[in-house]
Amino acid sequence: MEKLIALVTGANRGIGFEVTRQLANRGYIVFLGSRNLKNGQAAVRELNFSPEQVIALELDVTSGTSVENAKSEIQKKFNHLDVIINNAAIHYDDWETVTTVDLNIVHEALETNTYGAIRIINTMLSLLLQSKHGRIVNVSSGAGSLATMSPDTPAYNLSKVALNALTKMYAEKLRPNDILVNSVCPGWTFTDMGKGGRPISEGAASVVWAVTIHDRGPTGGFFRDGKAIDW
Ligand SMILES: NC(=O)c1ccc[n+]([C@@H]2O[C@H](COP(=O)([O-])OP(=O)(O)OC[C@H]3O[C@@H](n4cnc5c(N)ncnc54)[C@H](OP(=O)(O)O)[C@@H]3O)[C@@H](O)[C@H]2O)c1
Repeated sequence: MEKLIALVTGANRGIGFEVTRQLANRGYIVFLGSRNLKNGQAAVRELNFSPEQVIALELDVTSGTSVENAKSEIQKKFNHLDVIINNAAIHYDDWETVTTVDLNIVHEALETNTYGAIRIINTMLSLLLQSKHGRIVNVSSGAGSLATMSPDTPAYNLSKVALNALTKMYAEKLRPNDILVNSVCPGWTFTDMGKGGRPISEGAASVVWAVTIHDRGPTGGFFRDGKAIDW
């Protein structure tokens, strides 16, 4: 069977790094996106797959030029892309609450966590449309659930609510193209951002589930560990 090709943003460490490992173990060709190429190359070396299987890709999701260049790099090797995982994120602003929130932090959080996903999807879309098994996974968070919304971590929460809205929009738009678009919460996971929580392998597996669902699987949903959660 032809190998599936995936792009993971923010994959040089944390959940994105482990998602890359798990997908490569399943036979996917993975572009390991990192805004600092040296860090990405170091991550690729650490993963220790063949150079054809896991490929370092310089990719800053806040820069249109960087995303365009990354697309050109992918196109040098392949004429399509099967999976986009919008994983890169910043500013779990647990030092803030909504009544005193710093709008600069909100701007920065949205630029990466939300607009970054738009930049990636819209730029890569022509490649994704060539796939017979297209998937977009937006790595969201329970912090973006309206059902359990907290006044704290306001910039982060807002960026993830908006990311969830994008999941619904893209899912509807791309339904006729059979591209499945879902939001996934990895759960509280022990990374630099999480600073505690469950093992990275488990958080990453929650994301990988949405990549490996059947072609007639769900689209436009919000999941953790393969189970639907409240928006
Ligand atoms: N950990 C948790 O408990 C938890 C819970 C719920 C949801 N999540 C979500 O899971 C995802 C991964 O989180 P994590 O815990 O693995 O975070 P992390 O350890 O802080 O890693 C974040 C990754 O994003 C990258 N990144 C930041 N800005 C970027 C940009 N402009 N362009 C490209 N890459 C960029 C970072 O690159 P650098 O190394 O260059 O900084 C890093 O590789 C995020 O979407 C997060 O919101 C995490």
